[in-house]
Amino acid sequence: MLIQGQNYKTVWMEGNIIKLINQPLLPHRFEITEVHNYEEVYLAIKTMVVRGAPAIGATAAYGVAQAVYDFQGPLKALKHHLAKVNKRIASSRPTAQDLFHGIANVTNSTINSKTVKEAKKKAVEAAEEYANNSVEECKKIGEHGSKLIKNNFKILTHCNAGALATVDYGTALAPIRIAHYNSKKIFIYVDETRPRLQGARLTSFELGEENIPHAIIADNAAGYYMRQKEIDICIVGADRIAANGDVANKIGTYEKAVLAKENDIPFYVAAPLSTFDLNCSSGNKIPIEERDQSEVLFSIGWNDNGDFNKVRISPENSKAKNPAFDITPARYITGIITPKGIINANKQGIRKLFCVERL
Ligand code: MRU
Repeated sequence: MLIQGQNYKTVWMEGNIIKLINQPLLPHRFEITEVHNYEEVYLAIKTMVVRGAPAIGATAAYGVAQAVYDFQGPLKALKHHLAKVNKRIASSRPTAQDLFHGIANVTNSTINSKTVKEAKKKAVEAAEEYANNSVEECKKIGEHGSKLIKNNFKILTHCNAGALATVDYGTALAPIRIAHYNSKKIFIYVDETRPRLQGARLTSFELGEENIPHAIIADNAAGYYMRQKEIDICIVGADRIAANGDVANKIGTYEKAVLAKENDIPFYVAAPLSTFDLNCSSGNKIPIEERDQSEVLFSIGWNDNGDFNKVRISPENSKAKNPAFDITPARYITGIITPKGIINANKQGIRKLFCVERL
């Protein structure tokens, strides 16, 4: 992705250090954070220094690789160490399937090594391959999805499913990027996405850096614009897709999908293969993360002195509830844009995608 005219990825590894774009500081301050061990990987994911399902998956993959690379001891002890590392990283956030996919991918490529030296090499190679594959998948999502976008389209997106939520390109923002690179005239309605404001802070930042015309709207304004016939298509990302096509994504996605159906607007979900959970039969079984109530009770912004301010926006004694994701039932989803094409959001579509007979 372009930031200040330079190309960046959201996460990468240099030697035994993982580097991340520090997302809570954006759009006000651009900083790269270094992550040195698996406890720091756990914290970076939990505190959302890195967030977005595919970016979490790649960070976890690098985290396992780093733990193997830095391991000192005999091969027998490595297995025990890996189990401890995996358990800790996997406990950072519960909803995004990519987290577990990234951990399993590097672990499975490493676990049968004959020597510790071989394990180190295999782990780092597997993590690099995982991240590169993730970028390739997002590019393909962009190519397939951009065919849905006609000239002069106005597009609604929720949260940030952009390059910052992946290793690069994004999922929901990939078709938008490609349509823009192909000189289509488009306009993006960006839901602000309370309480963490991934739309207002991150999606608008990414679109601005690439001069893609957009406006941030309050979350509760989307229905108004849909009724005004101002929105031609909705494209969102996903944190986990169940085998029946139900989708977990950022809180507020469900209501946008219902409103889109009510207004006859196509509603698409864009996701790489790592987001599908074939072992999960329906959205009801997807664990939904409940985050700290302070994210709702307070707001963090940038003051005129060029610094961050945290301010209370509610009475001192009020409590809050803060589910981070919701489930959009498959019946509200027009199609899922994948690296292998656009599929129906149902068992048949997902079966064909993964070439499996039964789910
Ligand atoms: O809580 P977040 O910021 O990690 O949630 C991110 C989302 O819900 C995204 O839409 C999803 O992960 C897809 S990212 C390509």
